[in-house]
Amino acid sequence: STQTYQNILVSRPDPSVTLITLNRPKALNALNSALFHELNAAAKEADEDDAVGAIVLTGSDKAFAAGADIKEMKDKEFARAYKENFLGHWTELTRVKKPIIAAVSGYALGGGAELAMMCDIILASGTANFGQPEINLGVIPGAGGTQRLTRALGKSLSMELNLTGRNLSAQEAAQHGLVSRVVEGNVVDEAVKVAVTIAKKGRVASQAAKEAVNAAFELPLNEGLRIERRLFQSMFATKDQKEGMAAFAEKRKPNWSHE
Ligand code: HXC
Repeated sequence: STQTYQNILVSRPDPSVTLITLNRPKALNALNSALFHELNAAAKEADEDDAVGAIVLTGSDKAFAAGADIKEMKDKEFARAYKENFLGHWTELTRVKKPIIAAVSGYALGGGAELAMMCDIILASGTANFGQPEINLGVIPGAGGTQRLTRALGKSLSMELNLTGRNLSAQEAAQHGLVSRVVEGNVVDEAVKVAVTIAKKGRVASQAAKEAVNAAFELPLNEGLRIERRLFQSMFATKDQKEGMAAFAEKRKPNWSHE
């Protein structure tokens, strides 16, 4: 990395994977503005690096992230929050084209849960717990906690979390589809393995797959289906489609050019 960061660590556990670790241990990775700007910069750099096929985002054993930084925002006033579009920069992460896997241990609360939900896949360790405790602070979620969480869990359970502030265990989160699964061993190692698997696929197709699945979250079904079909048709303009299907017919492994 060409940049140095104060609030995150960036490494390459595999040449094809960027691992971003939130690193404000004393504040349980509370998400302040400086951290989020660094996270956006690191994710953008990974997105633009041809060698990288997927990104893993994690925190510490104790906390993925315990939310937006309460101390930083407690004295905010409406006019300033509105004019500076407070938290608007959080959406930059959702514009990353490469798959992002969240490896969650410990607390993923408030903005921490919302950050995990901005990723494409969430893997949880047995200690992970998810919640939207904003109600206890006299506010509500502001980065997907009432929207993405509701699409993931359905209305009743999302309402319960948002209205009572109670947390979901890793098992409950898996049972209700908020996370893919609970990982028995080291969740970061497992997330890196999944990332390496993804990075071995053709990049054009993986970008299109991510775009199409996200359309299911953002659009009515008929429009999502149209986008899926159009992206599918466009795959026939890629070298990877020719290579992938030729390799199948010739009973050999494909050699992706990512074009
Ligand atoms: C700022 C935080 C913080 C946060 C923890 N800390 N969470 N600082 N913002 N969100 C700090 C504590 O103040 C403390 O600092 C240190 O981290 C360790 O935390 P403790 O509370 O001592 O740890 P523990 O007793 O183990 O309790 C863990 C906890 C608790 C249950 C996770 O910290 C907690 O309830 N945190 C707040 C969770 C929350 O409300 N999140 C939602 C935030 S609002 P010191 O200096 O005392 O050692 C939000 C809004 C999003 O996210 C809106 C849109 C994005």
